[in-house]
Amino acid sequence: MTLRLSVIGTNYLGATHAVGLAEFGHHVIGVDIDPHRVKTLNSGQSHIFEIGLEPLLERHTATGRLRFTTDYSQIADWADVHFLALGTPSAASGAADLSQLYAAVDTLAPLLTKATLVVGKSTVPVGTAMQLEQRLREGSPAGDAIEVAWNPEFLREGHAVDDTLQPDRLVFGIHSQHALELLEEIYAIPLTEATPVVRCDIATAELIKAAANSFLATKISFINAMARMCQAAGGDVSLLADALGYDKRIGREFLSAGLGFGGGCLPKDIAALAVRARELGVYELSDFIASVEAINDRQRTELAELAIGQAGGDVHGKRIAVLGAAFKPGTDDTRNSPALTVADYLHACGAEVRIYDPQAHLQPREGFTQVASIEQAMLGADVVLHLTEWPEFRQLDPQPLGELVKSKIIIDGRLKLHGPTWINAGWKLVQIGRPETF
Ligand code: UGA
Repeated sequence: MTLRLSVIGTNYLGATHAVGLAEFGHHVIGVDIDPHRVKTLNSGQSHIFEIGLEPLLERHTATGRLRFTTDYSQIADWADVHFLALGTPSAASGAADLSQLYAAVDTLAPLLTKATLVVGKSTVPVGTAMQLEQRLREGSPAGDAIEVAWNPEFLREGHAVDDTLQPDRLVFGIHSQHALELLEEIYAIPLTEATPVVRCDIATAELIKAAANSFLATKISFINAMARMCQAAGGDVSLLADALGYDKRIGREFLSAGLGFGGGCLPKDIAALAVRARELGVYELSDFIASVEAINDRQRTELAELAIGQAGGDVHGKRIAVLGAAFKPGTDDTRNSPALTVADYLHACGAEVRIYDPQAHLQPREGFTQVASIEQAMLGADVVLHLTEWPEFRQLDPQPLGELVKSKIIIDGRLKLHGPTWINAGWKLVQIGRPETF
């Protein structure tokens, strides 16, 4: 059955979710307070770089099945279900800042006059959904006829469309049969494709998402701590990770050592879980997360210090080439990017930093220059840093690049460059946790 659905918030999560719901055959209106973004999306274009998003946007806005507005009155009683896909950034304390969610429900509530299901997709501290339900009921003429459910999203930037259309699993946090039936209707297509579903209470649904991101961050910090062990003892962390990964109980994914995790999700979500754990008196969990964070932070300073060491102990007036600015390949997102932390650190130590990234466009800022090509970044460089593993960096030919730089030194912060290729071309290749010769 075709449903009428609204998606409130149209950034990475909301825009992709809205497109996914249209692809599942529903009528969808996306809502955002940013008129510029709404205009762009209505013209079938995406304001973010996300593989596969724009063709679907074009297709569904052209048929009229999907449109965007800034006007909540167009969705309030029109939609059978409202999805909340707003950002929950970190507040200064590390707790999740829920102001966007509160603002959205406060705008929506007075406009709702009939029984309505509001489904949260954002990552939130456990207990948030029930607070939102209370707020909606108190602020709306529909009162107790409003119900909240939680259906967390697990999409990865760079794979967002595929993850939405073919999710690994669906989580339905519900407290009524009615909510469950509506969610099953909405996701009828992935459900017919045997997607596993976890039906649970709302607190469990909220926790599942926080736990998933924390577990992923834990895997990364664990392998990075092992990289430091390999560094200290002369081992090779990439081979170690391969060997661990062959154990089906462990798996190879999220065991790539290097600069660690960044982006708009993992760092903020684990920080928020730590704060919530402390609030609830679960200190073992907040302490555990603090270690995961400390290892991750250390990777960034370790790499910057390594660069300073390779530049002769002082980077004043030295030129550093940085390859990559996005927090990972496949996205233009630079939120909490490990590459930019390293660049900032080196600039603060007096280096002249030139950055190249195939997709990320940096706001002009003091500290470094963004250049339009790899060659421009490398020209006259004292040290080259490979900090985001875009596939094109792996295919570089080190021979001609060696003619451009001042010193043929490259630090591979993602352990993805092919060592022998660089070494045979006369470069010194440094990778944390791997020996210098292969
Ligand atoms: C993450 C989760 O993977 C998604 O499941 C989740 O839905 C999303 O957060 C979210 O909460 O919205 P994302 O932030 O797009 O997705 O990025 P990831 O692919 O998880 O990568 C996170 C960071 O870990 C990146 O900086 C990446 O470079 C780093 N990473 C990843 C490693 O350092 N090593 C690895 O082995 C894997």
